[in-house]
Amino acid sequence: MAGKIKTIAVLTSGGDAPGMNAAIRAVVRTALARGLKVKGIKKGYAGLLNEEIIDMQAKDVSDIIQRGGTILGTARCLEFKQPEVQARGAEICRKHGIDGIVVIGGDGSYRGAQALSRNGINTIGLPGTIDLDISCTDYTIGFDTAVNTAMEAIDKVKDTSSSHERCSIIEVMGRGAGYIALWCGIANGAEDILIPEKYDFNEQNIINNIIDNRKKGKTHHIIINAEGVGHSQSMAKRIEAATGIETRATILGYMQRGGNPTATDRYYASIMGAKAVDILIEGKTNRVVGHQHGEFVDIDIEEALNMNKAIDDYEFEVSKLLSV
Ligand code: ADP
Ligand code: F6P
Repeated sequence: MAGKIKTIAVLTSGGDAPGMNAAIRAVVRTALARGLKVKGIKKGYAGLLNEEIIDMQAKDVSDIIQRGGTILGTARCLEFKQPEVQARGAEICRKHGIDGIVVIGGDGSYRGAQALSRNGINTIGLPGTIDLDISCTDYTIGFDTAVNTAMEAIDKVKDTSSSHERCSIIEVMGRGAGYIALWCGIANGAEDILIPEKYDFNEQNIINNIIDNRKKGKTHHIIINAEGVGHSQSMAKRIEAATGIETRATILGYMQRGGNPTATDRYYASIMGAKAVDILIEGKTNRVVGHQHGEFVDIDIEEALNMNKAIDDYEFEVSKLLSV
């Protein structure tokens, strides 16, 4: 199979994540080093359909490893779910001489990658999402930066919360997954952590916890609330009414998706980007690069999409033990 692939392309899709640029850089430079031509597809699958395709040289990825966002841009392109549109995407690849694609994104993006593979374009996915919610890998590009950004912001809110003896609800990203909330909850020493996977929606437990902690002399009460649980503002009003303790909500929002990637994100993105190119050269297609048990691996996309990932019960229990 070696030598079959001559030109590859790279695109970023779905929500952006810090470290995507490091992955683009690794794809471009590894491919060039292996004697391939490289193209960049702008704005995800939308850019593919609009033929926003550019040639990429080593210098085009200079000075980007440290930057957040994605130099290629990203998009959510619902049209790409239609089989005839996917076939058109593959046709466009053939027209531009692209015989392999690296797709950097999450589960949704892998479904698009799977469709391109089915239509004859060798395609490899890379895990790019701040949510850490990709089952086939214990690491996703962007998570480490996002969780550190949120942790630093929460430390700041905690300072003012303690000074005013307030309760603070801080909402972090993660519509379907509570990993950012769990990690921040532990890293920031939060009193309560609400995540979609575990929350029982019994607000009275939180209220009792706040009152007990105040009696013990705690000056603050930090609740990390995942976006998937949400409703932080109304929750704050109800908690204030029930406890008599001033309660404020802070929604961290998109700041968690930006900023300079950490060393960890740059490192994983670089190795994963290189590996994606090397397995394309080996003739592989329809696979996702991941990291499992200390090793970089590649997994069939169908298998990857059928895997389940759950918040570890022991880790969640520890978060509660430490919050007294
Ligand atoms: P993520 O990749 O982060 O999970 P999305 O779920 O928004 O983000 O998916 C990103 C993009 O991937 C979508 O906008 C669409 O272009 C493509 N995509 C999502 N689901 C499918 C699907 N079932 N078939 C083909 N393409 C899809
Ligand atoms: O998947 C990353 C993420 O930031 C989620 O945490 C969040 O729920 C979602 O994207 C927000 O997406 P959008 O950019 O469409 O608002």
